[in-house]
Amino acid sequence: MQQANCTTIGVFDSGVGGLSVLQHIRRQLPNARLVYVADSGHVPYGDKSPEYIIQRSQVITQFLIEQGAQAIVIACNTATAAAAATLRSRYQLPIIGMEPAVKPAVAATKSGVVGVLATVGTLASARFAALLEKYAGNVEIVTQGCPGLVEQVEKGELHSTFTRELLQRYTTPLLEKGADTLILGCTHYPFLEQALREVVGENIALIDTGAAVARELKRRVNNELSGIAGMHLAQAAFYSSGEVEVASRIMSALWGEPVEAAFLQV
Ligand code: DGL
Repeated sequence: MQQANCTTIGVFDSGVGGLSVLQHIRRQLPNARLVYVADSGHVPYGDKSPEYIIQRSQVITQFLIEQGAQAIVIACNTATAAAAATLRSRYQLPIIGMEPAVKPAVAATKSGVVGVLATVGTLASARFAALLEKYAGNVEIVTQGCPGLVEQVEKGELHSTFTRELLQRYTTPLLEKGADTLILGCTHYPFLEQALREVVGENIALIDTGAAVARELKRRVNNELSGIAGMHLAQAAFYSSGEVEVASRIMSALWGEPVEAAFLQV
């Protein structure tokens, strides 16, 4: 239910990765009511067809609107690439998506080589190709799909031996090609930043878009919605289409506060 004078923001991801974005949103809009959906019953999106992801994104967006959402954040690069255009053509409310941070990475690199870690779906999308066309310029962009990493975060295995092996496997080819800047092109990966830092060392820049997306959301909320009046207790509601006990445990660890996720059957 929407509450008087309290802006409600709906946020979704294929799973718990979007919580890395939700943390930035909480900082930018501390008084907003947040409703988060982890589509854990359908994770990962990275190996699904665009049609499948569009269908999931539509039913979740519809659910979030029914919960009072006045703006939607697609806290998932893969779902943005597949479904943002369809959602925007169908719904009038502000819809903020995510894309790999090519523009800031191109500005930051000194070696002239940027590595992109993302899902196979994101890297194969027309949207990603257009992003490179627009911003890569003379910088060499080397990409790496990372099957399995999303699943490790979903299990809460941020530091396990297998997680480190995957990180080593996926970053080595990029560093060998001279990348000094790595884009975390999936919202699950910021939760692996510490392990990634240990694997790649201190001299590689790691860039993600969570903070920029939260700032863009705040700008649009202030310009397009009636604003957030008064002081409210920070509220957040969490839903999962998967096993809610598992989702609640992992979400609590990543969000940093106890989370009781409700089951979402859509
Ligand atoms: N967090 C999603 C993203 O940003 C992960 C996609 C997946 O489930 O494979 O791309």
